[in-house]
Amino acid sequence: MSGSDACSPAQVARGSRDASSPQEPCYLLRNMINKSCWKLLAMLALVLVVMVWYSISREDRYIELFYFPIPEKKEPCLQGEAEMKASKLFGNYSRDQPIFLQLKDYFWVKTPSAYELPYGTKGSEDVLLRVLAITSYSIPESIQSLKCRRCVVVGNGHRLRNSSLGDAINKYDMVIRLNNAPVAGYEGDVGSKTTMRLFYPESAHFNPKVENNPDTLLVLVAFKAMDFHWIETILSDKKRVRKGFWKQPPLIWDVNPKQIRILNPFFMEIAADKLLRLPMQQPRKMKQKPTTGLLAITLALHLCDMVHIAGFGYPDAHNKKQTIHYYEQITLKSMAGSGHNVSQEALAIKRMLELGAVKNLTYF
Ligand SMILES: *[C@@H]1O[C@H](CO)[C@@H](O)[C@H](O)[C@H]1NC(C)=O
Ligand SMILES: *[C@@H]1O[C@H](CO)[C@@H](O)[C@H](O)[C@H]1NC(C)=O
Ligand SMILES: *[C@@H]1O[C@H](CO)[C@@H](O)[C@H](O)[C@H]1NC(C)=O
Ligand SMILES: *[C@@H]1O[C@H](CO)[C@@H](O)[C@H](O)[C@H]1NC(C)=O
Repeated sequence: MSGSDACSPAQVARGSRDASSPQEPCYLLRNMINKSCWKLLAMLALVLVVMVWYSISREDRYIELFYFPIPEKKEPCLQGEAEMKASKLFGNYSRDQPIFLQLKDYFWVKTPSAYELPYGTKGSEDVLLRVLAITSYSIPESIQSLKCRRCVVVGNGHRLRNSSLGDAINKYDMVIRLNNAPVAGYEGDVGSKTTMRLFYPESAHFNPKVENNPDTLLVLVAFKAMDFHWIETILSDKKRVRKGFWKQPPLIWDVNPKQIRILNPFFMEIAADKLLRLPMQQPRKMKQKPTTGLLAITLALHLCDMVHIAGFGYPDAHNKKQTIHYYEQITLKSMAGSGHNVSQEALAIKRMLELGAVKNLTYF
């Protein structure tokens, strides 16, 4: 017999037959169990490593995964609290005021308005009718169904820079943003969630898809009749009007009409009247109006049960170098002639803070 015969098929076959001797199956079985045991152990170890890695990467879930679920650390929310506290500012106003304008109020019943824009819709009914026919007024079910709405109004102020408030901001039920304030690239400081964004044509971001979520409500704040015309030409793809704006608004604006809402000018009226004590009928020359930021707080006090603010406040008037926004290099000088009185607004916000109607997340 040569050595090569040891590996002949015959021998291998015999070998396997030999394996059926009384002791061998036991050994093989043990071997198999051992092997799968190791495999199982290795897999378990892998799962464990992944779990540990995952929970470390998300510290807040650590306890939930390994011990017991902890409720998310949210501040207690008292239903109706914001409304109650704000009633000291706005008087006995009613939550029955629709937040957004509705077609039926201009179609079936011609709701009379005491004021022209920005405080009312007098004289703009026809264009409004056409705009409301193609937009929507509903508040999303996800917000509607909340028992208590926690809201944060994110101002555009420089104090958000390096604030690291992004995660905290994303945890609110509603995040309300203003104008063209960017999110992309600033997530760590301002968060990435946008439930609502208030804007007017001149303040609309040219790339709305990048700076909003697919379900963000884009809330048009109309200051003048042209603002309704602008949104109509955009959404109905009519001939664009270029005149009548103080800054060129986007001519092409890629949004879904179902995302658009028209803010009820009632909120502009009470922000001007109750917070800033501006006369409703002003001479043409001294037209003063609330900023979008003050307007957003006013809106939040009607829509939410808890209202926090971040990124509000301007530099001192004598601080000529400090930039005013977290995302661009402009100073207070750019506010001249805007029709906003920022010191008057600061007093109004101070009053809201003192009443406890709102709470500040950044220095105010
Ligand atoms: C608001 O209405 C309530 C009763 O509905 C009344 O007690 C309260 O005095 C009113 N407040 C103001 C500021 O008018
Ligand atoms: C923000 O942080 C960066 C990097 O740490 C720093 O260079 C910058 O000066 C900070 N800005 C402000 C406004 O504090
Ligand atoms: C702005 O408000 C301040 C504080 O109320 C007031 O003193 C000032 O006169 C106002 N400025 C204008 C231009 O109305
Ligand atoms: C809110 O503003 C006050 C000053 O008005 C400040 O002392 C406080 O630190 C601010 N809160 C936060 C969380 O920044």
